[in-house]
Amino acid sequence: MNNSKYQNISSRLSIGRSELPNRIVFPAWQVNYANDDGTVSNKLQNFYTAIADGGCGLIFTGAAAVSPDSIAFDRVMRIDSDECIPGLTKLFSEISRRGSIPGIQLIHFGRQAASSVTGYDLLAPSAIPCPVMSQFDPDYKVREMSTGEIDMVRKDFIDAAARAEQAGACVVEVHVAHGYLLNEFLSPYSNHRSDQYGGNTYNRARLTIEIIEGIRARLDRIVISVRISGNEFVDGGLTPADFSKIIPLFEEAGMDLLNVSAGVYESMDRIVPPSSLGETPHINIAAELKQFTNVPVCAVGSIFSLDKAESIILSGKSDLIAMGRAQVADPGIVNKSLYKNESDIHKCTRCNECTFWTTGDPQMYCSVNPVLKRKIEVYT
Ligand SMILES: Cc1cc2nc3c(=O)[nH]c(=O)nc-3n(C[C@H](O)[C@H](O)[C@H](O)COP(=O)(O)O)c2cc1C
Repeated sequence: MNNSKYQNISSRLSIGRSELPNRIVFPAWQVNYANDDGTVSNKLQNFYTAIADGGCGLIFTGAAAVSPDSIAFDRVMRIDSDECIPGLTKLFSEISRRGSIPGIQLIHFGRQAASSVTGYDLLAPSAIPCPVMSQFDPDYKVREMSTGEIDMVRKDFIDAAARAEQAGACVVEVHVAHGYLLNEFLSPYSNHRSDQYGGNTYNRARLTIEIIEGIRARLDRIVISVRISGNEFVDGGLTPADFSKIIPLFEEAGMDLLNVSAGVYESMDRIVPPSSLGETPHINIAAELKQFTNVPVCAVGSIFSLDKAESIILSGKSDLIAMGRAQVADPGIVNKSLYKNESDIHKCTRCNECTFWTTGDPQMYCSVNPVLKRKIEVYT
């Protein structure tokens, strides 16, 4: 029987043409389990279907790269060619069959990539190296994008969204968070351009606005989510107050869902908050930004139980709750909580071994989930 203390979490939510079965979201989670060519492997599919089996309402697969010049690691999931569509079709249909809503996050890594992997100079609004990636990659080189390249990236995002819809995704998420390309354009911290894509707020938001408008014009069914870092936590970076102007622009362009995260690579502890930051360190950012929009808002960051998620929804600070590490540690956490089996949950210990880019691992492991421990064969 459904646990009555989770009434808000179990309530359905309609967004555009999609109806979410509950309020729990799996946020985009790069794992590097794709095949060499970026298509969906069995391991990648099993990763997501376990979360769907566990009762999650909306699953953002990805991040999936929209352009071949934007790959930061080997075995990143890709959506930059039609060859990706058959694997994605199977993945989304397996997620839907289990009652979850399939989504996909679209990414261009911008300056937060590695030239030694892409084989190209990295693209960014301005030729300002990422202080983190430039330390790791001996070949690191970044250059300012021309307007022709901006046109190409815009098209890449829109084409990728069309592939996602063709493959059966109900939601596409434009990744404007965590210091990747579209975040770089949005922020005065990383965008020093003086043309129509730099300078004032509108100009910095222009590329994302054009992408949202382009997706909306081409696809009338798909739900468009936008993920932002509501506070970049760097000197001269975006803060919640800046979003009072930005969010209405995204909404006017066609955004249906606002997904609020935090941080860029220089403030990595805000992207994946360690235990030293306590519980739910970013909930008030989501709550503040919710005042600037009429679309549903998703909050994230160290939310490890349905109890906590329920209290947040009840407080009105957010409409949806993304749980990343909690669902990686135990993909069954939602159903176990809803159906009174909470003592059986494998709890995330916040060891952060999953952050493979800090441990030097080529792909994601979890020290708690028995299927994702290091001892398991890497590419099954
Ligand atoms: C291994 C790993 C991969 C991630 N990949 C992505 C990603 O591709 N896109 C994204 O927006 N966030 C990504 N994140 C951030 C998560 O979506 C999430 O916001 C973060 O883990 C905080 O949520 P949590 O406290 O529930 O884990 C990643 C985090 C981890 C640990």
